[in-house]
Amino acid sequence: MLCSPVFLALLSLAVSVQASPYVLHEKRSHLPAGWTTSRRHDAAEHLPLRFGLRQSNVDQLDALLMDVADPESPNYGAHWAPEKVAATFAPSKASVDAVRAWLLAEGVPAAKMKIAPGKGWIQANVTVAHAERLLRTTYNVYTHAGGEQHVGCEKYDLPEHVASHVDLVTPSIHFDAVLRKRGGAAVPAKKIGLPGVGISPKTTGAFSTLFTELQHCDTQITPVCLRALYGLVYQPLASSKNSFGIVEYTPQAYVQSDLDMFNKNFSTAIVGKSPNLVSIDGGVVQNVQTGFDYNGESNLDLQYAMNLVNFAGYKQNVTLYQVGDIPQGASFNNLLDALDGSFCTFEGGDDPLNDGIYPDSDSYPNGFNGTSCGITKPANVISTSYGYNEADLSPFYTARQCAEYAKLGLMGVTVVYSSGDNGVAGNSDLCLNADGSQTEDGAIFNPSFPSTCPYVTAIGATQVSPGQNVTDPESACEQVIYSGGGFSNYFALPAYQKAAVAGYLKDHKPSYAAGIWNSTGGSRAYPDISANGANYVVAVNGKFARVFGTSASAPVVGAILTMVNDARLAVGKKPIGFINPSIYSAFFAGAFNDITQGGNQGCGTPGFAAVPGWDPVTGLGTPSFPKLLARWLLLP
Ligand SMILES: *[C@@H]1O[C@H](CO)[C@@H](O)[C@H](O)[C@H]1NC(C)=O
Ligand SMILES: *[C@@H]1O[C@H](CO)[C@@H](O)[C@H](O)[C@H]1NC(C)=O
Ligand SMILES: *[C@@H]1O[C@H](CO)[C@@H](O)[C@H](O)[C@H]1NC(C)=O
Ligand SMILES: *[C@@H]1O[C@H](CO)[C@@H](O)[C@H](O)[C@H]1NC(C)=O
Ligand SMILES: *[C@@H]1O[C@H](CO)[C@@H](O)[C@H](O)[C@H]1NC(C)=O
Ligand SMILES: *[C@@H]1O[C@H](CO)[C@@H](O)[C@H](O)[C@H]1NC(C)=O
Repeated sequence: MLCSPVFLALLSLAVSVQASPYVLHEKRSHLPAGWTTSRRHDAAEHLPLRFGLRQSNVDQLDALLMDVADPESPNYGAHWAPEKVAATFAPSKASVDAVRAWLLAEGVPAAKMKIAPGKGWIQANVTVAHAERLLRTTYNVYTHAGGEQHVGCEKYDLPEHVASHVDLVTPSIHFDAVLRKRGGAAVPAKKIGLPGVGISPKTTGAFSTLFTELQHCDTQITPVCLRALYGLVYQPLASSKNSFGIVEYTPQAYVQSDLDMFNKNFSTAIVGKSPNLVSIDGGVVQNVQTGFDYNGESNLDLQYAMNLVNFAGYKQNVTLYQVGDIPQGASFNNLLDALDGSFCTFEGGDDPLNDGIYPDSDSYPNGFNGTSCGITKPANVISTSYGYNEADLSPFYTARQCAEYAKLGLMGVTVVYSSGDNGVAGNSDLCLNADGSQTEDGAIFNPSFPSTCPYVTAIGATQVSPGQNVTDPESACEQVIYSGGGFSNYFALPAYQKAAVAGYLKDHKPSYAAGIWNSTGGSRAYPDISANGANYVVAVNGKFARVFGTSASAPVVGAILTMVNDARLAVGKKPIGFINPSIYSAFFAGAFNDITQGGNQGCGTPGFAAVPGWDPVTGLGTPSFPKLLARWLLLP
């Protein structure tokens, strides 16, 4: 045998001693708002230095996903088992060996190294001085205006032969990004612990006269308006095989008495029903903090999700993924860890500075004493109404997470995200500056993540314009909020979207200077589709309030797709999974109500305009359930 152990050992030694030039791996152009550099970090302190290894076959991920998601593919709907996904993308032994051999050669003893069970990460416990030599960098302590401290650096290098095996190293340039619910006013950056406190979908407050008829959908959206707008009249037949997941991040919490109040008025059959709680990383439906800022999002999502999948009776339950404990909270990677155990690192989060780190009971009283790695099978449709600005996160971090959404697609899961409520601006109305920083007076359009990930379906917002009724065409939402949309700075244009985006740029190219939007025509554009996001009647803390946001649009689309899945499951077909290659295909032409009025202002501009065909305000348009159902029932 050629491959004797001795031979292998020599080979890895040869790799490790081979001199290889250092190359820049990641770099930050500016400090996030609110942070200052306090001092150089102490050379003798220890750091847990973590290397996120590059996964195998990620270069084929797109093709593999299209093989099961493209309606023209002979393998349409042949989704993969989670085990096959894990095995296909696990980092290779060569990657583990290359990083280990390099660290050993650089004087990190084997006893100070750990490999994560999924083989995705290598941790080395080294001094700051040693880490600085390994990465050719300088570690600093940064302080936030609020007093919190972080260890990090401005840029780091890796030897060329190691760099190709590593996605990212932590701690490094990654900062404490703030996970935001859609909408809301500017708040200072804060710990990931409490994502979105003080911000929420927007409300114009409580009101007393509730309309339930179709005549008033321009001032009050209720389930009956949505059913009329999108033709959603459908009795579930296969609910025992189907599932619909709504994601909420603690401390956001629904209130049962509000669900009941809503359903007393809009569907007595589900009064008293609760979502099926899946607690992730200590997630709890907390009732300590209440008010619109804590209950508005969850109440909105669950009142509409549960109502719309239960027409005249209670058939389909809704799964609530409640993510993060009270002391720390969590972010998208924590959810992904729970859905795909192979994505987990040592402590349940990919990046200690962006994600919740579990278990955390040693650090916080009442913290969660455990991890939630691969604890639950993903629902067929998963809707999330939270998001970042793309620029809050590094390209490596977003790419890694985006690949995970593609893996869910391979498993047959549909992932929908709200596209943002600030038009071409980002969360909190922040816009980009030329140096990459984000300020309210920035002039450059600020795209939203994960909406710019080509493997999620991004949902924008529309409205029934004042004085119009449900039979009139909707417009882009221009009341209180503006539909998030535009062009990514991180992700390339996916093949399924090429014709739609090229058509838009050919016939309707905006006249803005190339410097304020990604006008290359080669980047992922969003949203994909849209649904009403204005004047939702939501019960919050015992009162009906009007709520606005793509936060509302996402669960409504999720509910419609869940009913399509029901019909397919009822005739023995697979769930629809990743829908983008289908909805942009010629076969689906005419299945959406094209939106051609309104725009998505932001960054001191009118933003983009809704035009015939796809546009970066309302995407392909709003769903027509009967047309979508007919097409998806024809697909294998
Ligand atoms: C790292 O090593 C130092 C010195 O041996 C030790 O005090 C520290 O607890 C270790 N930290 C981790 C995270 O293993
Ligand atoms: C909701 O329905 C209840 C019971 O039918 C009714 O008493 C109440 O007035 C309704 N709420 C509003 C705001 O109209
Ligand atoms: C909507 O408007 C049309 C045209 O004005 C009218 O015929 C129809 O009755 C209205 N429908 C509702 C539900 O108000
Ligand atoms: C939700 O429905 C699924 C499938 O019918 C069932 O297995 C599960 O027990 C239900 N959960 C609740 C809380 O009703
Ligand atoms: C966490 O759970 C483990 C195992 O049950 C136990 O040994 C440990 O004491 C617990 N830690 C805390 C802080 O509760
Ligand atoms: C525009 O997007 C492409 C790919 O999405 C990216 O490579 C390029 O850097 C972006 N331009 C700017 C100015 O960010």
